[in-house]
Amino acid sequence: MLRKTLFPLFTLCIASAIATCFDPSPAFPVPEWTNGGEDLSSVFDSIETQLRDLIADQKYDAASFSVEVTSSHESLWSQYHTARKRNESRPGAERVDGDSLYRIASITKVFTTLGLLYQYEAGNLDLQSPISKYIPELAVNGGEIPWHDITLRTLASQLSGLPRDFAQSDLMIGPPDPISIGLPPASRERMPDCDEDSNFDSACDGTDLIDWLRKAQPLFAPNQQSTYSNLNFELIGLALERASDKDFKTYMRDAILEPLNMTLSTLNTPSDDTHAVLPLGDNYWGIEDGVQNPTGGIYSSTNDMSKFLRYILTHYNAIAPGINWLMPASWGTGSQNFYGMPFEILRTGRILTESTRPVTFATKGGGLPGYTTLISIVPEYGLGVTVLVGCSGCGKLLSAIQEIITVELIRGAEEAIWKAIDKTHRGVYTATDDKLNSSLELAVSPSTGLMVKTFVSNDTDVLGGFVSKYLVDNSRPWHLQLVPTLLFKNESAQQGEIWRMIPVYEREEGLDRGVWDELCSTDVDILRYAGLPLNEVVFWHDDGIVELPAWKVRMSRDMREEDTLVVQN
Ligand SMILES: *[C@@H]1O[C@H](CO)[C@@H](O)[C@H](O)[C@H]1NC(C)=O
Ligand SMILES: *[C@@H]1O[C@H](CO)[C@@H](O)[C@H](O)[C@H]1NC(C)=O
Ligand SMILES: *[C@@H]1O[C@H](CO)[C@@H](O)[C@H](O)[C@H]1NC(C)=O
Ligand SMILES: *[C@@H]1O[C@H](CO)[C@@H](O)[C@H](O)[C@H]1NC(C)=O
Ligand SMILES: *[C@@H]1O[C@H](CO)[C@@H](O)[C@H](O)[C@H]1NC(C)=O
Repeated sequence: MLRKTLFPLFTLCIASAIATCFDPSPAFPVPEWTNGGEDLSSVFDSIETQLRDLIADQKYDAASFSVEVTSSHESLWSQYHTARKRNESRPGAERVDGDSLYRIASITKVFTTLGLLYQYEAGNLDLQSPISKYIPELAVNGGEIPWHDITLRTLASQLSGLPRDFAQSDLMIGPPDPISIGLPPASRERMPDCDEDSNFDSACDGTDLIDWLRKAQPLFAPNQQSTYSNLNFELIGLALERASDKDFKTYMRDAILEPLNMTLSTLNTPSDDTHAVLPLGDNYWGIEDGVQNPTGGIYSSTNDMSKFLRYILTHYNAIAPGINWLMPASWGTGSQNFYGMPFEILRTGRILTESTRPVTFATKGGGLPGYTTLISIVPEYGLGVTVLVGCSGCGKLLSAIQEIITVELIRGAEEAIWKAIDKTHRGVYTATDDKLNSSLELAVSPSTGLMVKTFVSNDTDVLGGFVSKYLVDNSRPWHLQLVPTLLFKNESAQQGEIWRMIPVYEREEGLDRGVWDELCSTDVDILRYAGLPLNEVVFWHDDGIVELPAWKVRMSRDMREEDTLVVQN
């Protein structure tokens, strides 16, 4: 008997103990941006002005750029700039536009990893198998690197502990002159005789890489600590060649560039300069990367990169079994940085003005002499950004452009999204059965999302009663928020949009709650009633109906409320 009365209370206590979470994310369904960026036009105007002011500085006279923002199905905005100072004897493209080609450098790693996921999906490569299974020469005659612990997944996640480079970034190849910076005279015997180290006379091949690695030492134990390594992707490239029985360039063309209609993108130096962005001074145009192609070889344009980003935005959780491609695989330095496969992920609570809800950018940057590049994918907002800069010695131009675009874009998108949800979800809903005194009032704000303001079920105040008494810690401010599941009751028709109601605590200014207040074990499935999830809320937008299955109630949106809304706008 005792047990029977205590048990439900015990369950409820657990529910409240684990629910101390702030700012749930995502807070809204992924927006479609169906009217071609119309909602964001003032944001884009403001970005354009800021970029024009930025590039007007004479320190950027020799800089060209192409930038583009795409939704998951169409390009929303782009801007191009042609350098005021170019090489008169070989100027490259007359005017920079969406087809202008840059070396995208390390963004190539995203293509290499996509190839890996395809070969995994096809059953030709196993992410959990060591690279030495596919390149057995690596492990012949021992060596110091523990190859059996370095899987394909380890490589793609920057967790191998391998050195960063083998034929680049050696100070023996100036400038500066090594002696002038205090280094002693040295011989080249440990350096491979290819790429930079051969003055670019010959590209390095697989044998150069494997020979070098057999004598190399690990930086960290595998899977212990992330550190950026180009070698990881060069090895994946070799594995792809063996699994697909094609050379890397052919495999990339056949598996990715052609199927995605990236018509101008290539791993071969373009045959003429029609689309070439050729920055004045040192640049890497035309340098063959050989075995290093999988880590940085591709030439591409913003038009083509947007096609690629649209593919990622629509497929990232459906490319290979068990893989959500945009998820972190290891942490980086600091509390907001993660490596994915091979994304560089920033999860920041500093970008929104009305809340500290984190926004997650899955990015990949690149740099080669003359080129700095970056893609940012923001899956919750259904947006992707490409920034390609052609300039030798423009330092932080790319980060300045990225800061302007993404901060304005996300803040503008956030505003547009809550305006739209205000129209589609906010309001008072009352039971379709008019004998029943049941109603739900939903409010919208950028700080608390879509939230339940009042909830009456069969004459009973649910918020003031059940939720306050059993579900939350009433000593601190909270609200009952709706979080989207991104699923539908009818997936094929995208009807019956499913959300869950969860209690969310609000951050209190100036109140030091202690370090562990930040621990949140996300739990969106709180309690059940008669076998159904208690907090499930389903929107049938076409009928203006909200349904709470466990409460056995359908409620329709009060049209008077809609009228008020129209007047307000
Ligand atoms: C491929 O891309 C080109 C250039 O952007 C475009 O003209 C063409 O319509 C595209 N083809 C398909 C099938 O989408
Ligand atoms: C200009 O282009 C020519 C021909 O490619 C090249 O030899 C020269 O180094 C370039 N000059 C500068 C300053 O980039
Ligand atoms: C409403 O509550 C009454 C008791 O006050 C109960 O008899 C009735 O079954 C409830 N009806 C519904 C539809 O929940
Ligand atoms: C419906 O129930 C609520 C909560 O008990 C109550 O405040 C309200 O007056 C009721 N409305 C009607 C029309 O009975
Ligand atoms: C889903 O919606 C479509 C179109 O309205 C309808 O034909 C179909 O029967 C629905 N499926 C289910 C399982 O309700």
